[in-house]
Amino acid sequence: MIRRAENSDYEEMDLVFRESAKALCIRNYEESKVLDWVGQPWAERFVESAAKGNDQFVKISNGKVVCFAELNTENSKLNSIFVLPDYAGKGIGQEMLNFLFCRAKEAGLQHLKLDASLNAVNFYQRNGFKQQGVSEFTTQNGVVLDSVQMICVFCN
Ligand SMILES: CC(C)(COP(=O)(O)OP(=O)(O)OC[C@H]1O[C@@H](n2cnc3c(N)ncnc32)[C@H](O)[C@@H]1OP(=O)(O)O)[C@@H](O)C(=O)NCCC(=O)NCCS
Repeated sequence: MIRRAENSDYEEMDLVFRESAKALCIRNYEESKVLDWVGQPWAERFVESAAKGNDQFVKISNGKVVCFAELNTENSKLNSIFVLPDYAGKGIGQEMLNFLFCRAKEAGLQHLKLDASLNAVNFYQRNGFKQQGVSEFTTQNGVVLDSVQMICVFCN
C-alpha cells in the first residue's frame, strides 16, 4: 500500500533514507561524502521538506515503511525515492515511480525533473527520463554531491 506520509512516519522514513543511502549510493561516491550526507538521525528533515511544498508518500509492507518518495507539483520536481536495502530489487521503486507519475499527471504537470544520484541514473533512464546535464546537488545538510539533471516529458 502506498499512502501519504504522516508526521508519525518521519522517524521510519529517516531510517529508510539513511540505510538506503549507505547501502545503495555508496558505490558511486566517496564513502566519507555519503556518511556526511547521511549524518545522524534527523527525522525533522521531513518537516523542513514538507514546508517547502514536497508531497510525501510511503510504501508500507509488513507493517513498516519500506520506501518513501517526495514530489513537488509546484516546481514539477521529483525530489527523492528511497527504498530500504532489504526491499530493493523487488519492484518497489518502480511501483513508487509509477504512483508518482500518476500523481504528477493528475496535477496537470507536463513533465517531471529530478537530480538523480549517480547510482539511480539508469533506473530513471529506463523510465523515460533523459539526461539534461551533470551538476552538483547540495543536500539538506549542506553536502555537495555529483548528480545528473534529468527530465521526463509526458506525452498526452
Ligand atoms: C533507485 C531505487 C529507488 C530503485 O528501487 P528498487 O525498488 O530497487 O527498483 P525496482 O526493483 O523497482 O526495479 C525496477 C527496475 O529497474 C531496474 N533497476 C533498479 N535499480 C536500478 C539501477 N540502479 N540501475 C539500473 N536499473 C535499475 C531493476 O532491475 C528493475 O528492472 P526490471 O523491471 O527489468 O526487473 C533504489 O535502488 C534506491 O532506493 N536507491 C538508493 C536511493 C537513491 O539513489 N534514490 C534515487 C535518488 S534520486
